[in-house]
Amino acid sequence: MFPSLEKGDRGDLQDALEYIPSRLRMSGPDEVQARVNALREQINYHNYRYYVLDDPEIPDVEYDRLLRELQSLEAKYSSLVTPDSPTQRVGAEPLKAFGEVQHELPMLSLANAFSEEELRAFDKRVRDLVDSDEAIEYAAEPKLDGLAISLLYRDGLLARGATRGNGIKGEDITQNVRTIHAVPLRLRGTGYPDLVEVRAEVYISKRDFEEFNARARKSGEKTFVNPRNAAAGSLRQLDPRLTAKRPLSIFCYGIGKIEGKNRPDRQSAILQQLRDWGLRVCPETEIVKGANGCLDYYRRIGERRPALPYDIDGVVYKVNRIDLQRQLGSVSRAPRWA
Ligand code: IVH
Repeated sequence: MFPSLEKGDRGDLQDALEYIPSRLRMSGPDEVQARVNALREQINYHNYRYYVLDDPEIPDVEYDRLLRELQSLEAKYSSLVTPDSPTQRVGAEPLKAFGEVQHELPMLSLANAFSEEELRAFDKRVRDLVDSDEAIEYAAEPKLDGLAISLLYRDGLLARGATRGNGIKGEDITQNVRTIHAVPLRLRGTGYPDLVEVRAEVYISKRDFEEFNARARKSGEKTFVNPRNAAAGSLRQLDPRLTAKRPLSIFCYGIGKIEGKNRPDRQSAILQQLRDWGLRVCPETEIVKGANGCLDYYRRIGERRPALPYDIDGVVYKVNRIDLQRQLGSVSRAPRWA
């Protein structure tokens, strides 16, 4: 596991020099800046492989070496430190209270179906409203049992993280979401929008939860009842240094407001766009056709549920075409298209 980074965790100059390759020791500011940039790029890449793709390319010790070299350079040349540097995930000071934020677009809730009949009625209502004889295409996704959050990226930089709250207003938990390694501080690639609200679920995997509780038991600390509870408690810490010690992860599943770039025209394309930006998306999402496709997905996920690495509390079906979603609209904060 990669070590968590703390702002105050800077070695002394002797330490620093040890990690600076000799060819750079006498170098000028441009060369140092270039090395810092290269290190950040490599660290961000390996962080992405490890935390987003769950597919690391290098051993932890090598990652640590890169990180320490960057930490040392930033300690020596503090003017080179930027807020999106991979060393800057953990803020220094605990908050007194969370601020209030207004979501750019409301975070909707979901209507329920508890039986095959109710699911078929939902599909029929959709077909009637969009006047379609053909089977509707749905994006089928696990309903992740965590906490809904919204990540605001401005010009590709993580600007704000917020809880769902009442859907209109939530709490500013920026300092805490920054500690989640699977949350990029800067979106990958190019061509990101001026502004985008990413909708996501923060959770703790079943295995991380067991490990966390086992360690807490050993050291006589407080244990949690279930992964959701643990995730909720962790996100609501006023001290981000505590949040940083919790094994939080994230799955992104939607886009709220977007400016400076078109919204993809299908839910499936939205998920692909999120992946391309380096955001973590649940791998168990599928496109299915009609009520039968939904029911078949439900049965298959149900069979796999005990073996899934995360808790779910249902499945979500979303009309895949965004133009149809618009046509269907929402009633009392729940979309008619999901
Ligand atoms: S979509 C349609 N997709 O469910 C707009 N929500 O009531 C609503 N949730 O707490 C959100 N997994 O965080 C959507 N794949 C998923 C989801 C999901 C879990 C949660 C969401 C919120 C609740 C919505």
